[in-house]
Amino acid sequence: MEQKIAKKVTGAMLKFDHPLFDFRSKEAKEKVVWVCDFLKPYVKKDQLLVDIGCGTGKQSFAAEELGINVVGVDCSKEAIEFANRIKKEINSKCHFVVCDYVKMPFKKEIFDVAIFPKNIVECSYKEIEKLNLEVRRVLKKEGIFVVTMEDGIKRIILDKSVNVYNYNRKTGKFEGKIILPNKKQYSYPTYFWTIPFAKQIFSRDFKLTKEIKIDKDFSALVFCKK
Ligand SMILES: C[S@@+](CC[C@H](N)C(=O)[O-])C[C@H]1O[C@@H](n2cnc3c(N)ncnc32)[C@H](O)[C@@H]1O
Repeated sequence: MEQKIAKKVTGAMLKFDHPLFDFRSKEAKEKVVWVCDFLKPYVKKDQLLVDIGCGTGKQSFAAEELGINVVGVDCSKEAIEFANRIKKEINSKCHFVVCDYVKMPFKKEIFDVAIFPKNIVECSYKEIEKLNLEVRRVLKKEGIFVVTMEDGIKRIILDKSVNVYNYNRKTGKFEGKIILPNKKQYSYPTYFWTIPFAKQIFSRDFKLTKEIKIDKDFSALVFCKK
């Protein structure tokens, strides 16, 4: 998502308690089961992984449990502060960085694995093209890039808040909406992504090696740097 909007929306959400923000909650643990179940074969002890758009770090902490070194990046200062608080409390060694994920402050070819969990829905097609180049830059040769996502067709059917008639066919843009506990409402852009289209766009810069069905709604696409 465009940094300016992401900072505003994520910052506003983090003013309220939600169990999903805290890696230690039952709700958060359920969401990161895939890391142990499906990511495990792709990571080796002592390698370096970047969790792109890490939020409060639940996937980063889960990945660390596999023995890999983890860097989480997010543009929201509040999200990274939250992640750092948990880090301290659980004695984690994850490293968290505030930055735009299309312009990461890292040298080229330093990561073995990059994950991009559940963020694609907030990205325009142009943004993913930029992200592709940035991930290619920071990944080592034959590095792994894992994208988890929901198929847009299902989202239209299941998510009643998605207004099909507001869909812009050219840009894929829908207006997303969150209503916070104080009843304050935020609109933010979300985009129509199907799994075949995501495969096509990422395959311009990466080689698709596997498609994994995480559960009935989520899939993981595993790419390798060409
Ligand atoms: C849908 S949340 C997902 C968070 C996390 N991956 C998870 O699964 O819990 C998207 C996250 O990406 C971050 N984000 C959005 N656009 C960004 C950008 N351009 N650069 C860095 N972070 C961004 C947001 O601040 C937010 O924390």
